Amino acid sequence: MAGRYAEIHRRSLEDPEGFWSEAASAIHWEKRWDRLLDDSRPPFYRWFAGGVLNTCYNCLDRHVAEGRGQQAALIYDSAMTGQTQSFSYTELTDLVARFAGAIAAQGVAKGDRVIIYMPMVPEAAIAMLACARLGAVHSVVFGGFAPAELATRINDAKPKLMISASCGLEPGRVLAYKPLLDQAIELATAKPDRCIILQRPQVKAEMKPGRDLDWQEAVAAAKPAACVPVAATDPLYVLYTSGTTGQPKGVVRDNGGHAVALKWTMKNIYGVEPGEVWWAASDVGWVVGHSYIVYAPLMHGCTSVLFEGKPVGTPDAGTYWRVIQQHKVSALFTAPTAFRAIKRDDPDAKLLRNYDIRSFRTLFLAGERSDPATLEWAEAHLKVPVIDHWWQTETGWPIVADCMGIEPFPVKHGSPTKAVPGWDVRVLDGEGHEVKRGDIGALVCKLPLPPGTFPTLWNAEQRFFDSYLRAYPGFYNTGDAGFIDEEGYVYVMARTDDVINVAGHRLSTGAMEEVLASHPDVAECAVIGAADDLKGQVPLGFLVLKAGVSRDEHKIAEEAVALVRERIGPVAAFRTAAVVKRLPKTRSGKILRGTMQKIADGEEYKTPATIDDPAILPEIGEALRGVGYGKEPDKG
Ligand code: COA
Ligand code: AMP
Repeated sequence: MAGRYAEIHRRSLEDPEGFWSEAASAIHWEKRWDRLLDDSRPPFYRWFAGGVLNTCYNCLDRHVAEGRGQQAALIYDSAMTGQTQSFSYTELTDLVARFAGAIAAQGVAKGDRVIIYMPMVPEAAIAMLACARLGAVHSVVFGGFAPAELATRINDAKPKLMISASCGLEPGRVLAYKPLLDQAIELATAKPDRCIILQRPQVKAEMKPGRDLDWQEAVAAAKPAACVPVAATDPLYVLYTSGTTGQPKGVVRDNGGHAVALKWTMKNIYGVEPGEVWWAASDVGWVVGHSYIVYAPLMHGCTSVLFEGKPVGTPDAGTYWRVIQQHKVSALFTAPTAFRAIKRDDPDAKLLRNYDIRSFRTLFLAGERSDPATLEWAEAHLKVPVIDHWWQTETGWPIVADCMGIEPFPVKHGSPTKAVPGWDVRVLDGEGHEVKRGDIGALVCKLPLPPGTFPTLWNAEQRFFDSYLRAYPGFYNTGDAGFIDEEGYVYVMARTDDVINVAGHRLSTGAMEEVLASHPDVAECAVIGAADDLKGQVPLGFLVLKAGVSRDEHKIAEEAVALVRERIGPVAAFRTAAVVKRLPKTRSGKILRGTMQKIADGEEYKTPATIDDPAILPEIGEALRGVGYGKEPDKG
């Protein structure tokens, strides 16, 4: 295998036409593309222009036609209810076709948007695939977002239909989803015509006559719908992700490039064969859930596990091992946070001894930086390769990984290994010049990005250009900083914008600042991501009160915390705000968030030369210690 990676990677960049048309032969096309890469309008590129296909057909019907009908396509495993349910390819195809018929009967057709706000139940995947079947564009919103966030997405996507459930299940509590949906629609200006609601046994949702339809009733009355051929360049879905403001970015994924790239990754990156059991322990609300719970494993003819539960507490830190044993999982993909949680609850992995996990071959981690201690712990106890890999909502599949199906490299802790074929990763300085190996700079990818990435932002091409393509002409700016070592290993160090990763969930501190600033007593505010042993990072707020405000500061801080939960949702995990007299700024008025973060983390910091008033930094330290952060600063 030695040299295989270098050869494949080189070919992918020198002969993308040959490379990707070969990969595309694994997909069923209704009509072959006219142009593999439409580069007539740089820096905007389109893959497989003129091609026609259906994503759902490639995920389901084709496997039935090719003899895989009896194999399990999806296994639903709920650690919350103890229920497991397996759906064969034939069964899943029928359920999806019927649900597609149900939503078509409500007027949903090719190009219409459908918002899905669902807990981790099989119907969430069924709803996504049904949209794909009709060529409708789904937009899944994570259940931990508050109604106001859902409303923002409704206004942007303007869905004809919304699909939701009566409730989600979190440890120790049942979360009614339907009232949140109702509030969101109330707040939104673009109202959907219809809502289809899955009634779960734990809670019965109240239905709004004339607007809401019961899932089971809608399906009972429906005829199965056939797959609608769509252009390779037509959108499959829009997934909103945190931007630098309260307005999330609608990442668009097209049908053709997505199918080709995702299918290719299963064998080449993940080293998984059709027929094997694959588990991505994420949520359908995140990109990992889209790509690796639903589309890629099904496209590849695998059995995909859809898990409802937590790595710990449902019922204990042995849950992941139980799922692996019970369903004979070959490979698991999750966030490092999940393993930090397991390690915290069961440091010696005693529970692992109760399970037979001989089916298990590889653990993949992504979503946030993998800390070496967690990697080492997982390696020592699982005794399988633990593969860190780097990707983003925008890219839809990994940029950098140790490609298990091509040529596994020795793991260097702290690095997700090398650029995946298709990706030309560089490190640039502020002027756009490439830096020396080992030097830190902006991690960028040479355009065009490979198939399956994002061709644009939903209804926001200028924002797409401004956010990602403007800074370094000819390159996609990932928003991450890092370096590449002499052997080509990429190291992803930190975000260069205001995005933080909390328990593998991507959040914008800017969006939280917008919420805090709306509190009537707050004059100014800042939010930073402080290091957290479990979640990697957690947001911390600083509030400067308006002159003359004499109310209890603790009360105001509590209100600020409640406000973020109300407007953004529990997913923000915003629990701490400190009232300070003033914020440290540069002479030009820029808030020194980086320095505040170092103080919060108890790291050494240098007083920035451009600081307006250095006396503010010790005040920040003191305020932080008041809320349990920031050791005595070691001033450099
Ligand atoms: N619907 C509604 N609320 C949700 C939710 C959902 N789908 N998912 C999470 N929440 C809520 C939680 O209940 C919690 O609420 P609380 O503040 O009332 O306690 C809040 O959102 C924060 O959730 P989270 O940050 O996930 O913390 P947690 O304490 O519930 O769980 C972990 C911590 C580590 C167990 C969990 O984050 C985890 O399993 N993470 C790793 C896997 C993963 O999801 N990765 C994502 C991308 S790969
Ligand atoms: P998301 O779009 O939610 O997948 O978040 C993408 C961001 O998560 C990236 O831009 C990185 O900042 C971070 N990230 C994802 N995977 C890794 C990784 N393996 N190592 C370091 N950071 C990562």
